[in-house]
Amino acid sequence: MQRAVFTHIGLHDWMPVLSNLRISQYCSLYRALPLQLSSRAYSVIPPPRDETEKKMLDSMLRVDHAGEYGANRIYAGQMAVLGRSQTGPLIQEMWDQEKRHLAKFNEILSENRVRPTLLLPIWNVAGFLLVAYFLFSNPGAGTALLGKEGAMACTVAVEESISEHYNSQIRTLMEEDPDRYVELLQVIKEFRDDELEHHDTGLEHDAESLPGYKLLKSAIQLGCTAAIYISQRV
Ligand SMILES: [Fe+2]
Ligand SMILES: [Fe+2]
Repeated sequence: MQRAVFTHIGLHDWMPVLSNLRISQYCSLYRALPLQLSSRAYSVIPPPRDETEKKMLDSMLRVDHAGEYGANRIYAGQMAVLGRSQTGPLIQEMWDQEKRHLAKFNEILSENRVRPTLLLPIWNVAGFLLVAYFLFSNPGAGTALLGKEGAMACTVAVEESISEHYNSQIRTLMEEDPDRYVELLQVIKEFRDDELEHHDTGLEHDAESLPGYKLLKSAIQLGCTAAIYISQRV
């Protein structure tokens, strides 16, 4: 079962982004459209004013995409183990939202020609940071094997990290120029709210009753912090 989850890593994970990238390269005409045709000549991200802004936005989008990718792998792992249990529908529901988040970031990356993190396939096994703890290569599957409480503890830890990360991006964009980034702020706020809901769901479903909950949560969040740091840069 672990192997089945693991083998999902591969080029196909990049394809939604890569295929759209190619299309957008041939469709650059939209860039020439005069601004007055609509109030915004872009869907989510304004064309960068300079290299500094481009770097900031690229880094933000890359790490958000990586985070949503990682979240998808975690829920996939949990479903592989708990999909047929009573908790299955609940995990599926959260996973469906993560799929929507990832699809949105695939779209935004493509539109703005931002490459995903080079380490994307590695985040599939980001649980390596937890290997010493669980001896499994997938964080979702690893914690799910501890049962429902383990899966929920993993959910609480990850979702808390991701929502804090989104909050920090929201603060940065608000300080920079809330009007300029209004569409991006809208997307991030909506996703942050979903992540908070997932976090609360985890708590409501006995995450804290897992023996060693605090240790597990700290270990997972350490991994999340490292993943965020690296994805912003590579
Ligand atoms: Fe998400
Ligand atoms: Fe989430």
